[in-house]
Amino acid sequence: MSAFEEIAAALGPAGIVSDPADQAPYLTEWRNGRIGGRPGLVVRPGTTGEVAAVVGICAANGVAVVPQGGNTGLVGGGMPDASGTQVLLNLSRLNRIRDLDTLDDSVVVEAGCVLKTVQDAAAAADRLFALSLGSEGSAQIGGLIATNAGGTMTVRYGNMREQVLGLEVVLPDGRVWNGLRRLRKDNTGYDLRQMFVGAEGTLGIVTAAALRLLPRQPRVETAFCAVRDPEAAVALLAGLRAAAGEAVTAFELISRTAMTFALDHVPGTADPLDAPAPWYVLAELAGPAARADLADALERVLADALDRGEVTDGAMATSEARRAAFWQVRERITEGRRIAGSGINHDISVPTSRIPAFVRRCDADLAAMVPGIRIANFGHLADGNLHYNLNPPAGADPAPFLARKDALTALVHDRVLDFGGSISAEHGIGTLKRAELARLKDPLSLELMRRVKAALDPAGIMNPGKVI
Ligand code: FAD
Ligand code: LAC
Ligand code: ZN
Repeated sequence: MSAFEEIAAALGPAGIVSDPADQAPYLTEWRNGRIGGRPGLVVRPGTTGEVAAVVGICAANGVAVVPQGGNTGLVGGGMPDASGTQVLLNLSRLNRIRDLDTLDDSVVVEAGCVLKTVQDAAAAADRLFALSLGSEGSAQIGGLIATNAGGTMTVRYGNMREQVLGLEVVLPDGRVWNGLRRLRKDNTGYDLRQMFVGAEGTLGIVTAAALRLLPRQPRVETAFCAVRDPEAAVALLAGLRAAAGEAVTAFELISRTAMTFALDHVPGTADPLDAPAPWYVLAELAGPAARADLADALERVLADALDRGEVTDGAMATSEARRAAFWQVRERITEGRRIAGSGINHDISVPTSRIPAFVRRCDADLAAMVPGIRIANFGHLADGNLHYNLNPPAGADPAPFLARKDALTALVHDRVLDFGGSISAEHGIGTLKRAELARLKDPLSLELMRRVKAALDPAGIMNPGKVI
């Protein structure tokens, strides 16, 4: 029997996707609709045991495995290559919530659980699962762990890494590592769990996770305001922190250019303010029901900033519908840019205090290179994380612009390093940023990463060609 026949026998028909039409959703990239590679086999195991069986057969036969969750990743990490030899292993059938405990404040879920399902299960138990991002209706826990996803609440609760108490992982040799503890304290040597977080499926396949739950924060105050410039946005963040401390739960910076992509291309989005402005902030405070003071704090900080000319206009959400409308124009920028096409995307971070200088410098350098370039800049300002995205001048033929992609990206990334930043804040490396990682990460870090990879996956079968 060939390896593929062995896998088919181990999984039965329910675990194999063979019709090309049925395979298409697993092979179509979210951002550009491109078909990613050509798999030898597409499998959907239904249990950890089945995942281990597939990986065991692959290990014995030197066949590469590509793990995949909700396929919302933006860097090509979950796509097979073009060789027609790799096994694409989608986790979506591992979608059970195994246990939720309100005394331990933890939930144990399988890797294929969609984020929204976990958020809803937590809310039903009067708890918060503290991760939120635009793809939450599709992205899965395993993929979020593998990319160490960030999102809009990182400023308060940290990235996915901070939510993970324990993991169950199928290792590249097919053994199951059971690190599914829900302890807050465990100093028995190296923290192995953290190696798999952010590894983009190159060290093993996450099959389940124990995640922390937090108190729900039902009182939410949201403002959408026009700010003079990024300096004013950073000052506003400092003002809100001084007034409301850890209640600051989201603080997003949005350029008009970025917002226009949502307004122009995504039905149902509307400008929250009357007149256009070059920059906006979407800020949210949250706390327990008793925190009636949060609205006052937000209003006071905005009024002071208005007096100083740092904020030029603003609105507070007076209903859940209004709040949702504020978030729509923010969360659907990426979709608008996908529809518009021809974008060059960057997911960078620099220290928040240096964002204004970075933006000024990089904007000027890019405008000198491509007069009229549209910089669709937006992101999680409080985390120093910008989606510093580029589009060709309005009405221009995109071809010459796209032909300069590598040069434009190199310029942005070089500036990021000048400002002490990172070329991937939250989306990961995948295949898209692999060359830039090799160019820009320090050689010792790369050597240590290769050694970790070789120690866990000596045969190199686990998501090869990604990250390093
Ligand atoms: P996939 O895309 O299927 O896979 C992603 C990577 O993880 C691949 O390398 C894959 O091999 C690996 N992988 C998947 N499952 C497993 C597993 N079980 N075990 C091991 N490896 C695995 N990201 C942010 O951080 N912040 C944002 O604000 C944000 N907003 C977004 C908005 C939109 C509209 C979209 C489309 C994406 C956004 N993203 C954001 C990207 C984010 O959705 C993904 O990176 C997500 O974390 C990946 O989850 P997934 O289940 O879709 O994984
Ligand atoms: C966002 C994605 C692109 O923040 O990370 O919308
Ligand atoms: Zn983001």
